[in-house]
Amino acid sequence: MNHIPVLKDEVIEYLDPKPNQNFVDCTFGFGGHTEAILEKIKPNGRVLGIEWDQDKIKYQKSNIKNKGKIILVNDSYVNLKDIVNRENFGPINGILLDVGISSFEVESSGRGFSFQKDEPLDMRFDQEQNLTAREIVNEWNEEELARIFKEYGQERFAKNIARNIADVRSRQSIETTFQLVEIIRKSFPRSYKFGKAHFATRAFQALRIAVNNELDNLKNVLPQALEVLEENGRIAVIAFHSLEDAIVKKFFKEQAKDSKLKILTKKPITPSFEETKLNPKARSAKLRVAQIINN
Ligand SMILES: C[S@@+](CC[C@H](N)C(=O)[O-])C[C@H]1O[C@@H](n2cnc3c(N)ncnc32)[C@H](O)[C@@H]1O
Repeated sequence: MNHIPVLKDEVIEYLDPKPNQNFVDCTFGFGGHTEAILEKIKPNGRVLGIEWDQDKIKYQKSNIKNKGKIILVNDSYVNLKDIVNRENFGPINGILLDVGISSFEVESSGRGFSFQKDEPLDMRFDQEQNLTAREIVNEWNEEELARIFKEYGQERFAKNIARNIADVRSRQSIETTFQLVEIIRKSFPRSYKFGKAHFATRAFQALRIAVNNELDNLKNVLPQALEVLEENGRIAVIAFHSLEDAIVKKFFKEQAKDSKLKILTKKPITPSFEETKLNPKARSAKLRVAQIINN
């Protein structure tokens, strides 16, 4: 699987993995960051990889390199502390969270993450979860829909989109991404000049965040990371959305004030010009890293 890990060199520089240390990769994906970490923690260091998406776990089971050095768990990172205890994994020197969506989900999962493909409205990372984008679109009330488009997507025409969804679904259920794209398109004023980003970007992003409870998961994992890290252990978070980055920034600041964390990135690290040229999807990434002071 062709996957380019975002800010790989910067993650390694700031996490600073050393021989025989152990790390947790909370968003294993295709293991790009894990691979880079493993190179540095040879010969006896190990990585606990957590991944919520069953399809990726299946793929990894047959393709994974360094089998003996990676413990791969199919779960949500929101259960970090339990997973670490269950696997009896430690001592932990560093934790990575790369909370974006991978190109696999967008391009080949068939789960409706992309507004450019006509697929069922699903958007779940975890295919065993009950809540889907279809349920939100067809069953959540209009106010709640407007709230998520506004809050998670910062969509100016959130109310119009919610109203049009309510109108269409009173006649027929909304099952596919293209049905939704058409509704979103009609929610913009005729005179509106579309910008560079596709007009459905913000609404789709909002739905994905709501389906997977992404902001709460991030809020809940951060204190757990502090609990399981060794003294001087480091936590690195790559966020792609301003709301996610704000959660990390706030948490780091509060913990630094209480002398529990030292912030290692005064300003978030962003991809170089060269990286964004090679991988345009990296352009909105922001990396923040902090180090435990007391444990
Ligand atoms: C941007 S990708 C990570 C890519 C990875 N760093 C790599 O180099 O291959 C984010 C991954 O996190 C997974 N994910 C999203 N939410 C999760 C959660 N709550 N727990 C565990 N994995 C999650 C997604 O399925 C996706 O594979």
